[in-house]
Amino acid sequence: HTPYSGLLHRYREWLDLPPYTHPVTLLEGNTPLIPMPRLAEELGGGFELYIKYEGLNPSGSFKDRGMTAAISEALGRGVRAVICASTGNTAASAAAYAARAGLRAIVLIPQGKVALGKLAGALAYGAEVIQIDGSFDDALALVVEISQNYPIALVNSLNPYRLEGQKTAAFEICDALGAAPDWLCLPVGNAGNITAYWMGFRQYHARQGSGLPHLLGVQATGAAPLVLGHPVEKPETVATAIRIGRPARGEQALQAAEESGGRIIAVTDDEILAMQRRLASHGVWVEPASAAGAAGLAHEIASGRLNPRGQRIVVVCTGHGLKDPDIVTRWSPPPRTLPARLEALTEALLTEVR
Ligand code: F0G
Repeated sequence: HTPYSGLLHRYREWLDLPPYTHPVTLLEGNTPLIPMPRLAEELGGGFELYIKYEGLNPSGSFKDRGMTAAISEALGRGVRAVICASTGNTAASAAAYAARAGLRAIVLIPQGKVALGKLAGALAYGAEVIQIDGSFDDALALVVEISQNYPIALVNSLNPYRLEGQKTAAFEICDALGAAPDWLCLPVGNAGNITAYWMGFRQYHARQGSGLPHLLGVQATGAAPLVLGHPVEKPETVATAIRIGRPARGEQALQAAEESGGRIIAVTDDEILAMQRRLASHGVWVEPASAAGAAGLAHEIASGRLNPRGQRIVVVCTGHGLKDPDIVTRWSPPPRTLPARLEALTEALLTEVR
């Protein structure tokens, strides 16, 4: 028995990384694929539904898959500093892996638009966090410029090694199910992840005939450039992780969705929050953006555009609920406060069972 030692090791023959790559791992990946039979019933029934729970990665999101690859390449190349723009999760992940590698991490975030758990993570891991008075898209343009002029590695998903790492989630799903699912539903922001999944599914299929899923990419209506067909100057959504108006890999995402016989759609913030709450009611608490994939699936089933009968469907939940603790107050009342007396408790809680 060999203990799990991270996805660069587990999938090494599948990853296109330079020979000088120096593995930096926090044992990311190997996340659960959770069967959701009761949720499937609620959405109409007659199909198999699973959640790929990426919130259980070391820094709490799927970004760790890409970051182990990007930081390992940067370290092997001899780079001493990394930089990224982020809506929060990339920042926390870059900070964690840079800390692990002993590298300097600089992260640019849009001021006031990053959820608390992500900002706290980036600070805790010791990144230099810069808030800019602008959007994620503005921040990305800046870090691209800096990385082109200084010996600082860009670790956004424009970095090809990020996708090499992230495609392993597709491998894990095929390994767990014995084949690709019929549909894969996931949120789309900067569009790296959907691009990486499609790379992974195609690569596995080419070598071992595992089949290909239809991709359902889901944006928020206030930040849906790939649905509208043009950039969004002032993106707005409660799902701050995907508050992006100019996705770096937008063209590839659209192509992946089309090639797969799937599509990219948008759902409202209300649909996202309702699904976040519903998933939590099934024991899976994810951040708002992470509920977008499932919200999109529910939307398509309800409108009759996706017939789930007999299908095997995987929904990717990209980040943990703890990333965005504040948002829960939007749909849950605060706890009651009672005197520390038994009578008060029994009176409040147990009158009907007396
Ligand atoms: N879900 C979560 C929780 C995210 O943090 C992101 C992206 C996405 C989905 C979308 O993935 O960008 O590959 O299409 N977050 C980035 C960040 C932008 O900076 O953390 P994508």
